[in-house]
Amino acid sequence: MTAPNTTNVHFSPSRGDKRRADDLWAIEPMPADLIDSPLDFIFAEHHRQREAASILTMLADGEFDGEGVHALLTFLETDFALHIGDEELALFPMLREHCLPEDNVERILARLEDEHREDEASLETATAILTKSVSDKQLGVNDKRRLRMFAEHIRQHLALENGVLLPIARVRLRENELGVLADLLKARRR
Ligand SMILES: [Fe+2]
Ligand SMILES: [Fe+2]
Repeated sequence: MTAPNTTNVHFSPSRGDKRRADDLWAIEPMPADLIDSPLDFIFAEHHRQREAASILTMLADGEFDGEGVHALLTFLETDFALHIGDEELALFPMLREHCLPEDNVERILARLEDEHREDEASLETATAILTKSVSDKQLGVNDKRRLRMFAEHIRQHLALENGVLLPIARVRLRENELGVLADLLKARRR
């Protein structure tokens, strides 16, 4: 057995198939049925995106875990990408319909949509960097910088959505609208 090279890269000990709940490289699974409470579902996805941002930052700091990178890639390519559509095709149109002028929601949504376009570009770059890192087992200086910038962009976007948008949604979307939103999110997963 070859000893791992620990000069530049941190190797996590082998954990077998199951990652621990407190594993810093893990992205928690979504609770089953949470989609029936769609704003909580979106909030829970935001929590997972924050975990993804933490993993991107660990990679930018020079740590590396192959299994963690695989899980991160899967999350970015599936649930993260799906979430942008959940918001733009389901949540945002409902907010445009049900918010009041004093909510200033159009200004917020326009900014969030701009940030989503940046996310999509960063997503493509990050996916290419992460895929390459799986074989290289390390990242170059520029790649680390790009991953750190993506993590910071994710965090500031989440701050606006959790701090401003979701509180407005919780006030303006009533039980009927929440049922419609849940159905729209489910339809996107069939
Ligand atoms: Fe979001
Ligand atoms: Fe978003």
